[in-house]
Amino acid sequence: KTYRIAAIAGDGIGKEVLPEGIRVVEAAAAKFGLSIEFTSFDWASCDYYLQHGQMMPDDWFETLKGFDAIYFGAVGWPDKVPDHISLWGSLIKFRREFDQYVNLRPVRLLPGVPCPLANRKPGDIDFFVVRENTEGEYSAVGGRVFEGTEREFVLQEAVFTRHGVDRILKFAFELANSRPRKKLTAATKSNGISISMPYWDERVVEMAKAYPGVAWDKQHIDILSARFVMQPDRFDVVVASNLFGDILSDLGPACTGTMGLAASANLNPERRFPSLFEPVHGSAPDIYGKLIANPIAMIWSGAMMLDFLGDGDASFKAAHDAIMAAIETVLVEGPRTPDVGGTANTTEVGKAVAQAL
Ligand code: NAI
Ligand code: MG
Repeated sequence: KTYRIAAIAGDGIGKEVLPEGIRVVEAAAAKFGLSIEFTSFDWASCDYYLQHGQMMPDDWFETLKGFDAIYFGAVGWPDKVPDHISLWGSLIKFRREFDQYVNLRPVRLLPGVPCPLANRKPGDIDFFVVRENTEGEYSAVGGRVFEGTEREFVLQEAVFTRHGVDRILKFAFELANSRPRKKLTAATKSNGISISMPYWDERVVEMAKAYPGVAWDKQHIDILSARFVMQPDRFDVVVASNLFGDILSDLGPACTGTMGLAASANLNPERRFPSLFEPVHGSAPDIYGKLIANPIAMIWSGAMMLDFLGDGDASFKAAHDAIMAAIETVLVEGPRTPDVGGTANTTEVGKAVAQAL
């Protein structure tokens, strides 16, 4: 089978790192005899918005739904388009309408990367943030009235459905159950958020009954964030609502070195729709154009894509493992981008990873 991938660069450094991701995925495909075909699209970008008044063409769903996956750079250019318009007009549409309800984000200290936390070595920090990706705090339910007056009133609801909560918890417990340490931590804030978070906690208790082998606990998001910094070694699988998961999955990579290494998968586990693979970071306007963005988050996301596409197939697994090994080789031996202490540019690192393969 030929796997068809929609490649969407988006904005800013998305345009710089995506080509390196494609380079490495193609090298891995060639090496392991996988048939992967990329088709590029220039929409889902702020440039497209400035020309057309919307982020994507009307038929975006029809165009993308037949692809096996979407390989996505980053979106957003706040000087030109407000962030909520660019994000809700593209990436959040993909996540919601393709029902990519799992946002899987590894947090791992890799060799060769200066760790901002003291006395940590590779292997000490190795866990997943499992972020709910379709509901929760990122809802479109709410409104603003009496705009511009003293009576101005703004309301935005968080949405927690049993279907939505249970399916993300199930994914997280399954993942924990498949890992050697079998530990799960549920992020909550049921002391302050007194309706939705107690509900979330109740569903965790209920789901845990089906996984007696998994040791689990719940932690309020404030202390949980502190422990990401102070005791990251204690985590194995961390499951969180949309907003909490978003925050934790920038904090995790910050504790293991740099946003430039943070990979993610937006999964529709049932495979009814294409899943989307993208770095956690955004378009980084502050460094765009200098070609110093670290492409490894994008490349690692490509490895996750092959792993998911293969669905257990040995060649795909081998391709994933080989990309990860090549990433580690390059992080140890160089070349490295400035965020991990080097002077190399984006292309040099991409080529080096492909070469190490
Ligand atoms: P950001 O992730 O783009 O940048 C945060 C900081 O990390 C910046 O200092 C940047 O230079 C650095 N950084 C990010 N990726 C890097 C890489 N690969 N190598 C080296 N350094 C890297 O977050 P920010 O500044 O809050 O957002 C910028 C734009 O991106 C906004 O429009 C925002 O809405 C959008 N955004 C999009 C996301 C996505 O497409 N998934 C995720 C986060 C933000
Ligand atoms: Mg984020």
